[in-house]
Amino acid sequence: MEMIELAYETGIRRIVLTPHYISGGNGYEPEKLDRLYDELKKKIRSVHPDMELFLGNEVMYSSETAEDLRRGCIHTMNGTRYVLVEYLPEVPYRVLTQSMGELQRGGWWPVIAHVERYSCLMETKERINELIEMGGYLQMNTNSLTGSRFNWRTRKCRALVRENKISFLGTDAHGSAHRTPECKETLKWLKHALEKYDLERLLWGNADRMLHGEIIQ
Ligand SMILES: [Fe+2]
Repeated sequence: MEMIELAYETGIRRIVLTPHYISGGNGYEPEKLDRLYDELKKKIRSVHPDMELFLGNEVMYSSETAEDLRRGCIHTMNGTRYVLVEYLPEVPYRVLTQSMGELQRGGWWPVIAHVERYSCLMETKERINELIEMGGYLQMNTNSLTGSRFNWRTRKCRALVRENKISFLGTDAHGSAHRTPECKETLKWLKHALEKYDLERLLWGNADRMLHGEIIQ
């Protein structure tokens, strides 16, 4: 509830909740998640009727992921074909591309979580382009866009956003004290850096299409 309050203050009105999914890990039960989600929606409705919540998972990729998806153990983004997938920071590029292909053959549309975290992708721009050409969608964390403009990582992330390589921004929020959903600083930079059309797409349009299961061009 505290996290949602912070998001609301920032101006966020739609949230896709994406708790971690680790195959075979920590007694994860999809039904329990559905229950908690319903409870939370009820609570929010009475406090902020204009706040919309949706459900998904952030899936740590493993050799089980495709099968778990097929069996319906994983919450895709609002029940669509879109799946938020994350990897360990040191994932080899070959694993990224192969797993993306594997998920796509299963009928899923992978969204690569916090794309700026993988060293194999930050080395060259060709790989980012290649993933997009393969049909992958890239997500970046809002706090990766703040920081000094002399920081090479911030600059790189900002360049990717300016070049429209990023389909989704996410807060990657984990709490109300640390890694919070607050992102006013980032919103300020985005408004200054992007044209109105691109800004609207990144903050709203793409996510809206995703939630309806529509393809993003
Ligand atoms: Fe993550």
